[in-house]
Amino acid sequence: MIEDGGVAWTGPSAAAPPADERFDAAGRAVLPGFVDSHAHLVFAGERAEEFEARMSGRPYAAGGIRTTVERTRAASDDDLRANLRRLIGEMARQGTTTVECKSGYGLTVEHEERSLRIAAELADEVTYLGAHVVPAGSDASSYTRLAATDMLAACAPHARWVDVFCEEGAFDADQAREVLEAGIKAGLAPRLHANQLTRGPGVRLAVELDAASADHCTFLADADVDALASSRTVATLLPGVEFSTRQPYPDARRLLDAGATVAIATDCNPGSCYTSSMAFCVAVAVRDMRMTPAEAVWAATAGGARALRRTDVGNLAPGARADVHVLDAPSHIHLAYRPGVPQTAAVWKAGRRVM
Ligand code: NIG
Ligand code: FE
Repeated sequence: MIEDGGVAWTGPSAAAPPADERFDAAGRAVLPGFVDSHAHLVFAGERAEEFEARMSGRPYAAGGIRTTVERTRAASDDDLRANLRRLIGEMARQGTTTVECKSGYGLTVEHEERSLRIAAELADEVTYLGAHVVPAGSDASSYTRLAATDMLAACAPHARWVDVFCEEGAFDADQAREVLEAGIKAGLAPRLHANQLTRGPGVRLAVELDAASADHCTFLADADVDALASSRTVATLLPGVEFSTRQPYPDARRLLDAGATVAIATDCNPGSCYTSSMAFCVAVAVRDMRMTPAEAVWAATAGGARALRRTDVGNLAPGARADVHVLDAPSHIHLAYRPGVPQTAAVWKAGRRVM
């Protein structure tokens, strides 16, 4: 039962309290809305040709981000807003009711600030990712300084989170630490792109700073797995990226068996993975990462909520926000069992029907 946008009661329908309206799910599965805790949605243009070249063997590299930066800087506020609205709508129609959105395609004080101002109009969670890549014409240490000072000051009012792409070709551990620590001082909470392309220092830095999440976790040493397992930093896996860059998948079983908390998100962005479908990511996690359907659906709902340090989304217990996803299927297993098939029958966000 939904009241004032929240879940007021759950139980067998025969025992339900009286209500103004009733919805008969007719035996279909009812899930919490997906929590997509990692996406880059403020951008212009796309990179279909880069994808095509990658499928013929060109490897993915951080530098492709700069192509999108040029297009994003040239776009108007209205164009960026319209693209963001389109993507969030596309997500909602596929059962996603909480969306995290990062900046990172502006890379000047002015363009990062406007990216976050626009993100904050439409996304549930907003992340400052000024340290996404060193922009053309800049050097790493002066750009890092900018991202940790003036850019941060302009961006912090619009964001809850600070993120850095800690990777070869982007920012090293010292640079990531400089930006994250400055962000924490400015009142933001840390999360980190970590160990996407190499066994770098990102995961351990995330754990050391008590980041809410270390995202990607594709190349992990034993010490990284141990660090995650003994922390409250969530390992957010982004299987659409490995699918779309033809990289090896992260070892979800190793993380789960060690006791780490695992989330799944799309990483929707025009470069490394342009899917908005959490259902697709669940299917890949089950098929190729050996998660059970129940583990994968948990990771895409409650796990995403943990990665955002939220308890009001990703579950349907009384007190939760009424984010409800009715599948056109009898069970959650069908999300993996019927890959690529649209199976979202109805969606409510905070008690309001959105599909
Ligand atoms: O999460 N890794 C860094 N950022 C994105 C890719 C962005 C892009 O290629 O445009 C990611 O994969
Ligand atoms: Fe990302």
